[in-house]
Amino acid sequence: MEKIKVIGVGPGGKDYLLPVAQKAIEEAEILVGGHRALALFNQLKKEKRVIDARLENVAAFLNQNKGKKVAVLVSGDPGLYSFLDYLLKHFGEEEIEVIPGLSPVQVAFARARMSWQDAVIISLQGREKEKMLACVVTPAVKESPKVALLTDQDMPPQKIAAYLLAQGVAQKIMLIGDNLSYPQERFVRASLAQVPQLKEQFDNCVVLITNG
Ligand SMILES: C[S@@+](CC[C@H](N)C(=O)[O-])C[C@H]1O[C@@H](n2cnc3c(N)ncnc32)[C@H](O)[C@@H]1O
Repeated sequence: MEKIKVIGVGPGGKDYLLPVAQKAIEEAEILVGGHRALALFNQLKKEKRVIDARLENVAAFLNQNKGKKVAVLVSGDPGLYSFLDYLLKHFGEEEIEVIPGLSPVQVAFARARMSWQDAVIISLQGREKEKMLACVVTPAVKESPKVALLTDQDMPPQKIAAYLLAQGVAQKIMLIGDNLSYPQERFVRASLAQVPQLKEQFDNCVVLITNG
């Protein structure tokens, strides 16, 4: 039986894709993934299926295509805030193979030249962001020397910094890694107080909040 391969495609830059992932993707008959992940393989002439917000549709599609070589592409690593858990619950361990990828969180810490074994990693994606900021992010930033946030345009770094400042968090540094590994990559370092004034738009970023 062909297993469903859940493949981490890394942060997006070609040099950051593992050869084992590249090989599995080339061998697959069908690629399933978000727009950004699928766009990395535009040149491969294969059946492609975009994942929408309703995961049950993806599960139904995978069920219909059992027996075919299917690769489910996720950004970064499958083990960090992807829908791997959903697929495991739905199909069971025996039907799933996982191929790791480099998380943009790792790349952000590398750009910052920092170790990250003591970091708290939080995703704001697809969650109630205001509630997450209040109940999860603020306590984590107050207690931990390093917090990494996966976020999107609905909750840009400027808004996160403004919220934290309003909660009395001040002596922190924010490092913003946007479009890491792409040609348009930016890496910005600023004090928390400076961030709300930043004019740049960050559309695909990891935010690190560290002690000064
Ligand atoms: C659905 S999460 C996936 C997390 C991923 N599984 C991982 O290993 O980090 C998507 C988020 O990852 C971050 N991200 C993905 N690619 C990125 C990149 N090239 N540069 C910066 N952040 C990126 C953004 O915060 C984006 O909202």
